[in-house]
Amino acid sequence: MSANDDRDPLFRYDDPIFADERLLEITHLPGPDRIVGRDEQMQRVADALNPAIFGSEPNHLFIFGKTGTGKSLISRSVAKRVISEAKRDDVTVNYAFIDCGEQNTEASIVKTIAQLVNDPEQSGITVPDRGLGTGDYYKRLWQAVDRCTDVTIVILDEIDMLEDDEVLRKLSRAGENRRISDSSIGIIGISNKIDFPDHLSERVKSSLSRDELVFSPYDANQLVEILEKRRDAFHDGVLSGDVIPLTAALAAQEHGDARKAIDILRNAGRIAKKQNADRVTADHVRDAKEKTEADRFNELIEGSPQQAKAILYSLTILTENSTEKEFPTKIIYNQYKEVARRLGFDVLSERRVQEILQEQNFLNVIQSEREGRGRGRGAHAKHRLLENPVIVKKVLLRDSRLAPLEDDS
Ligand SMILES: Nc1ncnc2c1ncn2[C@@H]1O[C@H](COP(=O)(O)OP(=O)(O)O)[C@@H](O)[C@H]1O
Ligand SMILES: [Mg+2]
Repeated sequence: MSANDDRDPLFRYDDPIFADERLLEITHLPGPDRIVGRDEQMQRVADALNPAIFGSEPNHLFIFGKTGTGKSLISRSVAKRVISEAKRDDVTVNYAFIDCGEQNTEASIVKTIAQLVNDPEQSGITVPDRGLGTGDYYKRLWQAVDRCTDVTIVILDEIDMLEDDEVLRKLSRAGENRRISDSSIGIIGISNKIDFPDHLSERVKSSLSRDELVFSPYDANQLVEILEKRRDAFHDGVLSGDVIPLTAALAAQEHGDARKAIDILRNAGRIAKKQNADRVTADHVRDAKEKTEADRFNELIEGSPQQAKAILYSLTILTENSTEKEFPTKIIYNQYKEVARRLGFDVLSERRVQEILQEQNFLNVIQSEREGRGRGRGAHAKHRLLENPVIVKKVLLRDSRLAPLEDDS
């Protein structure tokens, strides 16, 4: 302690739990020696990108699989390895990682790739944040790609969130259409939805030849191994013996999700730290699981308008107070009218409520099914909450505008 005696006592300088918490951050890219059980998938991605090492055009590739199966990790990891191998032969490979959940319009995607690839000193151009039309951003992109790289790998993560798939067609055709002449582009599209290619437009489907690859969920043993390789995020001896197996088992309950496993482990550490405990225990893990699920759900809905939250709340209390799991629009609407009145919200029409229920469906919060076929679509649809109602309710009540409902919970 003596060496630190002159430090400001307002702050803490030693972390009793974590040795290096960054190892558990979702954006952290672990080295190849910390990656478990993905040799085959890594090889397939490497095969697709291999031509890039010699400055040739890579094969386009689509990757599918549920959340937390390592899709983003393996794509980024292999792309980085391609870049460093190519460098040894003086071939310049660049990669642009785009999260289509955040950038989902054609213009913003093209702009972002151009900005990531462009080196103004080399290209003599800039890519301004605003002020250009989509067509002009494309022009800058082609210039940047041609002048700064031999090969550009574009990773489009959560590609099903794309507003318009035209960008796929333009990127994949750039060489053929002589938009670029001295370089080439390879696309890796990543999606949680296995049927994603069915939703592509015919134009894209026919122009984009590609390989496809599926990532299956991990089993509990693989999750244990993944977590073991991040154990050094914690100080020696801080994790009780049952922490990693329990975390893996909880994360494997729905589908073997490495993101959930790592998030639970990190939250367990944080909870222990907050309680001034000197070890992380199974109880911390159980609390962490609930927190992790609530945080994840919160991410899904926090941006939703208050009316959507009121509708979701209505479905939640119906689910809680009934043995039924599925409810027709009409029933939800009746419940919603009461909720909206209590909150002092305007009461929306049944039709509008139906529309909002369907938008929520898109967010994987609710599953909606039509009853029968054809006839009277909306009104006869049934809706089911996909999350634990206790957690949903808790998260919804975090919104102060819904707080008046707290009395009955
Ligand atoms: N095979 C693996 N080995 C080590 N860590 C992994 C593995 N698969 C996933 N992870 C980790 O789990 C988290 C989620 O992985 P990610 O690639 O984002 O999944 P996805 O993109 O499929 O949702 C990340 O922190 C990642 O580092
Ligand atoms: Mg991902």
